[in-house]
Amino acid sequence: MLNEILQSTNVGTVVPASLVIFLTFIMLRKTKSYKKAINVNQNDRIYCFKPQPLIDFTRINLNEALEIPAPDESDPDCMNLAKVNYLDLLNNINLRKEAESCIRIYGVGSCGPRGFYGTIDIHLTLESRLAEFMGMEETVLYSYGFSTISSAIGAYCKKSDIIFCDEKISFCAGQGILAAKSKVVYFKHNDMEDLNTKLQEYEEKEKQRKKLYRKFLVVEGIYAATGTICPLPELMSLRKKYKLRIFIDESLSFGVLGKTGRGVTEHFNVNRSDIDMIMGSLEGSIGSIGGFCVGASVVIEHQRLSGLGYCFSASLPPFLSHISICALDMFEKDPSMFEKLKSIVQIVDERLRNLKGIMVISDPLSPHKVITTTNIENREETIKKIHAACVQKDIYLICLKENLHFNLNVTMKDADIDRFINTLQEAVGNILCS
Ligand SMILES: *[C@@H]1O[C@H](CO)[C@@H](O)[C@H](O)[C@H]1NC(C)=O
Ligand SMILES: *[C@@H]1O[C@H](CO)[C@@H](O)[C@H](O)[C@H]1NC(C)=O
Repeated sequence: MLNEILQSTNVGTVVPASLVIFLTFIMLRKTKSYKKAINVNQNDRIYCFKPQPLIDFTRINLNEALEIPAPDESDPDCMNLAKVNYLDLLNNINLRKEAESCIRIYGVGSCGPRGFYGTIDIHLTLESRLAEFMGMEETVLYSYGFSTISSAIGAYCKKSDIIFCDEKISFCAGQGILAAKSKVVYFKHNDMEDLNTKLQEYEEKEKQRKKLYRKFLVVEGIYAATGTICPLPELMSLRKKYKLRIFIDESLSFGVLGKTGRGVTEHFNVNRSDIDMIMGSLEGSIGSIGGFCVGASVVIEHQRLSGLGYCFSASLPPFLSHISICALDMFEKDPSMFEKLKSIVQIVDERLRNLKGIMVISDPLSPHKVITTTNIENREETIKKIHAACVQKDIYLICLKENLHFNLNVTMKDADIDRFINTLQEAVGNILCS
């Protein structure tokens, strides 16, 4: 009996053992031939590989593409109005010293996203300072102005929502709207009647399907494309009437509009607790890098897990956060700087409106000016020529198709304004005569 059992175990071990050997043999053979095949394939593929050019040169005129005039700001004659520097904080010596001493303590970067190990006390201070400054509950800080706007919109608006959006909305807000995949209804630029009709239309649709949509209204304080200000009081009454959530992009208006620089809400005296979210940039008048969203805690907290630019970017370098805090200190200590900027902006606006052949598109109070020619024919070409004439005189503007864009700043003296206006006048005169 025992013998039998022993024999059977012997047989029981011999059979599996030979099976294992057999299988290993097959597998080894397989990997060998497999490796061989891969080697051949790899060599083939390396030899066949023809790298694609990164730039399609057939579609680009090289001379044109490489013509980027780089203003030399150390030249005293250089007037760089292409750059945003409304309050001249970019050249502020104190801020530079503050940045330097902060780098000596914290280094240049934080090396991690906020949710991991990238949060430093300075970030928390800046967030609470911004919330306090705007008189709202909470702030979320982003490392880059562009991604602030695009992430914040994408974090809320879902596929089933409807976004009512001004047709002149900036490119970055447009990217956020694309990412949200919501239905987008564009209304004519600052045209409240058009918006009202479209809202009514969707109210009818809601009645038909007996279910409400979540509706968002996305506007800009000062539009980057036109330099105009949004009609906030009218927007607020539509918000109330149709139960909309309103998001305002204040990238250009924060630290500019209002008596104390608190933006378009202060300008129109609108209660900020009625605004669902204000998105702002630290790259405008603050003169740092980054952006922020401020609003009620329920709205803001959500972004710490779903704002893509917040979750997946290294946090704002501590020294850039620190100079933003210092800039806020300056705003609070000396609000006369906003008054000063406003008066320069108004003077230049008036002078521009008196120029023959020039049409001003932007708002009289916007430091971001947009102008074009009164003549509709060959606008793009004429604008190009005016731009070139200004560059020749060391005055740098932004030429965008049919419009000239430029940013005024608080250091402009009367002589600077004269020089700029005269150059424009001369350029337009020469072109109109020829
Ligand atoms: C600000 O205005 C001054 C005076 O017109 C000009 O020289 C300077 O280039 C402008 N831009 C910046 C970035 O400071
Ligand atoms: C703003 O609105 C909030 C809530 O609706 C209210 O408590 C507050 O008093 C208002 N502030 C002003 C200045 O009207």
